[in-house]
Amino acid sequence: MAQPEVSDFAQAVIERMADCKDPRFHQIMSSLVRHAHAFMREVDLTPAEWMAGIEFLTATGKKCDEKRQEFILLSDTLGLSMLVVALDQARGAKALAGAPGDKPTEATVQGPFFWPGAPQLELGADIGEGHPGEPTYYHGRVTDTAGRPIAGCELDVWSGDADGLYDMQKGDAMSLRAQFRTDEHGNYRFWSIRPTFYPVPGDGPVGRMLDKMGRHLNRPGHMHMMLNAPGHERLVTHIFVKDSPYLDSDAVFGVRNSLVVEFPQHAPGRAPDGRHMNKPYYTAQFDLRLVPSAA
Ligand code: BEZ
Ligand code: FE
Repeated sequence: MAQPEVSDFAQAVIERMADCKDPRFHQIMSSLVRHAHAFMREVDLTPAEWMAGIEFLTATGKKCDEKRQEFILLSDTLGLSMLVVALDQARGAKALAGAPGDKPTEATVQGPFFWPGAPQLELGADIGEGHPGEPTYYHGRVTDTAGRPIAGCELDVWSGDADGLYDMQKGDAMSLRAQFRTDEHGNYRFWSIRPTFYPVPGDGPVGRMLDKMGRHLNRPGHMHMMLNAPGHERLVTHIFVKDSPYLDSDAVFGVRNSLVVEFPQHAPGRAPDGRHMNKPYYTAQFDLRLVPSAA
């Protein structure tokens, strides 16, 4: 009987898939097997190391529940989530190639703290009221890549508080998140706080892995945004606070230079929306461009 050797166990597994009916699944599994075998040969993995890896993946699964997704955190911290986001945008860019217009807004990781069903508020509402943090007026315009305004675009926004904690990490009440709709000119505006840097959850196996890798857990300050408009691709992105610590070493590799925004500070007085501020406040202006779905 032919017997596979160290160099061809992968080929033996791939040949065993001869009856696989799904060509894409066949392609993905063949490549996964080839690369996994190559990795083990490259590092000459020992049985004890392989068992440590299996125990790590078991602990990662055990840490997951409805509120905690340790596997996504693993994917985020190994740069895999960001790679999938970037591949998806590159695919969209290829479809748009040659079309006139501007580049779409860059996407970044969604992270684990999106909570569907946030309160739907009027433009200009203050979702930071009553929460510690520096008041910030966010505003901008949503257009397509040809510069046409997108009216009625759903804009979900969410961020952590001044201590870097999201509502879901504190309990069952939503805070510092809302859904808005752009006006007839594609404009949006709302008040919240200026987000601070914060650590990704570090009390599980992924935290221990990062520690052993000699890495920190922190993400630079950012406001999450998810945009949904009929006829356009969904966009999941952030506005990053320029000058925030960790912009150069985001624990999940999510920073794109085009998403880093100035947050100028203003003295107390009349804000751009006419509101009278009796303490210093910040503004953040960011326009977003969506890709038409046909692309
Ligand atoms: C976040 O930005 O909310 C996040 C992203 C990835 C992992 C953990 C948190
Ligand atoms: Fe976040």
